[in-house]
Amino acid sequence: MGAGPFYGPDFGLLEERDPELAGVLLDEVERVRGGIQLIASENFASPAVLAALGSTLSNKYAEGYPGSRYYGGCEVVDRAERLAVRRARELFGADHANVQPHSGSSANLAAYAALLQPGDRMLAMALPHGGHLTHGSRANFSGRWFEVASYGVRRDTELIDYDEVRDLAVRHRPKVIVCGATAYPRLIDYGVFRGIADEVGAWLMADVAHPMGLIAGRAVPSPVPYADVVTFTTHKTLRGPRGGGILCTDELAARVDRAVFPFTQGGPMMHAVAAKAAAFGEAMRPEFAAYARQVIANARALCAALAEAGMRPVAGGTDTHLALIDVRALGVTGAEAERRCAVAGITLNRNAIPYDPEPARVTSGVRVGTPCVTTQGLGSRELEEVGTLVARAVREPEAAADIRDKVVALLAIHQPYLP
Ligand SMILES: Cc1ncc(COP(=O)(O)O)c(C=O)c1O
Repeated sequence: MGAGPFYGPDFGLLEERDPELAGVLLDEVERVRGGIQLIASENFASPAVLAALGSTLSNKYAEGYPGSRYYGGCEVVDRAERLAVRRARELFGADHANVQPHSGSSANLAAYAALLQPGDRMLAMALPHGGHLTHGSRANFSGRWFEVASYGVRRDTELIDYDEVRDLAVRHRPKVIVCGATAYPRLIDYGVFRGIADEVGAWLMADVAHPMGLIAGRAVPSPVPYADVVTFTTHKTLRGPRGGGILCTDELAARVDRAVFPFTQGGPMMHAVAAKAAAFGEAMRPEFAAYARQVIANARALCAALAEAGMRPVAGGTDTHLALIDVRALGVTGAEAERRCAVAGITLNRNAIPYDPEPARVTSGVRVGTPCVTTQGLGSRELEEVGTLVARAVREPEAAADIRDKVVALLAIHQPYLP
């Protein structure tokens, strides 16, 4: 099967000149078409986004910001960045937007650089409870360069323990409090975090790498009215190019811009900046709001079907695009569940659950998400079926071939990137 028009008119040239690499690109399209993608942090960017990513804007050096660059010839790419900034500010109601961070991690690095000095104290969610590596893990710069206090979720409810957050904030007096997570299925109360930050005189940073598309579609509350700085990615629920961004108040605008360039990055990737503008433009349309709502409805349907099949949703379910599932009742580890699903044509990832007795490479859970399947056009009824297939794939490894056939049948009319 051909890849369709999505690599642009030059794909034929690549195929002719470098068949080995062209084969990789085609095989990846085939891989995606051949199974269900339930990785919560992935999505299928639109042809318009891919067109911008594959454009000649990739060639242009543009250190600096629109109207104030350190290179000549930036008058055209300036228009792309101005468009991206204007759309991001409008879409999210933010005073200021920086669209240059190369990724979510780069956005967090820059946000910390804007607010902290090495050795300063920060408070963020612990990695084993759903926080991200950049929220103070010792394996990451954030855990080495700052003094980190970590909060978690309660053992009984598996929800953020706001009392613990407040106690830690009062005790440690952090300069920055980070809210936001990578594997937390419930809504985060940004108002409560704002109150705690105000009480201890801390900046509030919201890392909404995951739910930014749901926020764009008004399907979940926005942190923008509460947080001083909001960091995000553009490639997860937002369905744009791989990349990051920062929103902030007017007060912090100059500090954030300097923290991105020249402090933590050099030249921006102008093809990615243009693709971010395309994604913001798409996210402003009513169809995207409908998409965001359906992503959540689908996650709930999937979660309910998994629960029905004996796979326990952490925190009792989901309000977002993702669910965290405790697989111990089925007598497997997260790693084994991931492997069995892969054999059956279902791609998901193992994930630590709160208070997980297993090491990070093994885990007792899996994380599932619905951004990809919703982009493909699957609805709640189909997600119930997906839940049944996931549970069967984990329970009955010997039925993998049969499950894979059912996966292929389910996806037959919902293929991504069909010409
Ligand atoms: C909460 C959170 N922050 C930051 C990141 C980092 O994003 P990236 O992988 O683009 O560096 C992620 C990625 O999963 C995330 O979940």
